[in-house]
Amino acid sequence: MHDLIVIGAGPGGYEAAAHAGELGKKVVLVEAGSLGGACLNVGCIPAKVFLRSSRLYRECAEAGPFGVRVEGVSFEAPVMVERKNRIVASLRRGVAAKLKGAGVEVVTGRARLVGRHLVEVGDAQLEAENVLIATGSRPAIPPIPGIDAEHVLDSDRIFDLAEVPSSIAIIGGGYIGLELATYFREVGAEVAVFEMLPQIAASCDRDVSVRLLQALQRGGIDFHLSCRVLSVERGGLRYDDGSGTERTHVAERIVNATGRAPVVAGLGLEEVGVDFSAAGIRISDQGKTSAPGLWACGDVTGQHMLAHAATREGIVAVNSMFGIPDRIRYEAIPAVIYTHPEVAMAGRTEEELTRAGIPFRKATVPMGVAGRFLIENEGGSGFVKVLVGGRGGEILGVHAVGDSSSEFIVTASALIETALTARQAAEVVFPHPTVSEALREAILKVG
Ligand code: NAI
Repeated sequence: MHDLIVIGAGPGGYEAAAHAGELGKKVVLVEAGSLGGACLNVGCIPAKVFLRSSRLYRECAEAGPFGVRVEGVSFEAPVMVERKNRIVASLRRGVAAKLKGAGVEVVTGRARLVGRHLVEVGDAQLEAENVLIATGSRPAIPPIPGIDAEHVLDSDRIFDLAEVPSSIAIIGGGYIGLELATYFREVGAEVAVFEMLPQIAASCDRDVSVRLLQALQRGGIDFHLSCRVLSVERGGLRYDDGSGTERTHVAERIVNATGRAPVVAGLGLEEVGVDFSAAGIRISDQGKTSAPGLWACGDVTGQHMLAHAATREGIVAVNSMFGIPDRIRYEAIPAVIYTHPEVAMAGRTEEELTRAGIPFRKATVPMGVAGRFLIENEGGSGFVKVLVGGRGGEILGVHAVGDSSSEFIVTASALIETALTARQAAEVVFPHPTVSEALREAILKVG
């Protein structure tokens, strides 16, 4: 009898398993694929390896104003894919070592719940007081004829693409679509993004989404907004441009980046009475499902599809099942889009506050107020916007566009998590010169 069975070894599952192991619990982790889940193997990590290479390539071309002349530059995708494989392998070994260090037993195979405390893996049965479901998500397939064809790429397969197509059409202008658009544009492909909504990165603060669109368009990415993709064929797609006019777009490669769907099928959830739908498993703030002893975290809950949110949810679930008080404050969880320029945010958007009828004040400063931003980004632009509560002045949201904002957004999360007011936050000393000083200026300005 185990204390805990964890199903799925992504950042939700493996961190939770390691945490429970460190608490001295008897834990078994079941994984059908590779340790690290989508994030490490086909998501966050491979995407950032690709974006690091494309940035370096772009920066070589843009080095002139820095007094650096670079000649004869070429991009070798196979070398980059090989580097990605090395980094992924090294991180996987790190996950294995972490689990071993925490005393977690790892079982390879596909798990299925056959009772509330009973999990079947192949011919074996495992029993535990608690089961944590962390099976993640997979690329969603929208009802577009041809989108499931072999030649259409999705994020599960794109990071093995060791060539640069001359042109690529990306369906979906969310996180994945925009990061891939940045990569492919930087390495020289003609890139077109097809988004059904009138804006890209729709979950972002509106000002951020608008500025990001302008910057990406300036970088040479072609956007088709408010459009409906009608069908995908080899060598292109047909779409309705929003006015009822049907058009054809020619592209060597097509990418489906229309979102991710929770992995809920084949787990035996119905049999054990877990409340779920295609949108995910319903959980409480502590990660409890509707069935006693069964918990869930991460993408399978369909809520906040971010690796770091999954990790925190898993740890909160483990603490809760073993009687350690804990709760997650979703409002403080940061998010980053690794486009060029980067987007980083924590807390609520201006639109969310307005919709909720919460009074607020705001201040926006250009990134260029920070000397380091000007030094690092020749010709770059962006801004930081801070939203504070109308009465107390507590920090409710921070939204930034501009490179390096990914590195300082955790400061905003800490300010929101600890419910600091702008006046209190103004006492925090920011290192000089750093890009983070733009956040400090916005905090001072909002008062
Ligand atoms: P997403 O939900 O962010 O974006 C999907 C986009 O596709 C939306 O804008 C949607 O309106 C559009 N769309 C849906 N159906 C469409 C259709 N038929 N035609 C045209 N457009 C359509 O999902 P995405 O980008 O696939 O990412 C999946 C998850 O992975 C997200 O929840 C995201 O949080 C996470 N992620 C996080 C990253 C990060 O933290 N940097 C990077 C990549 C993914």
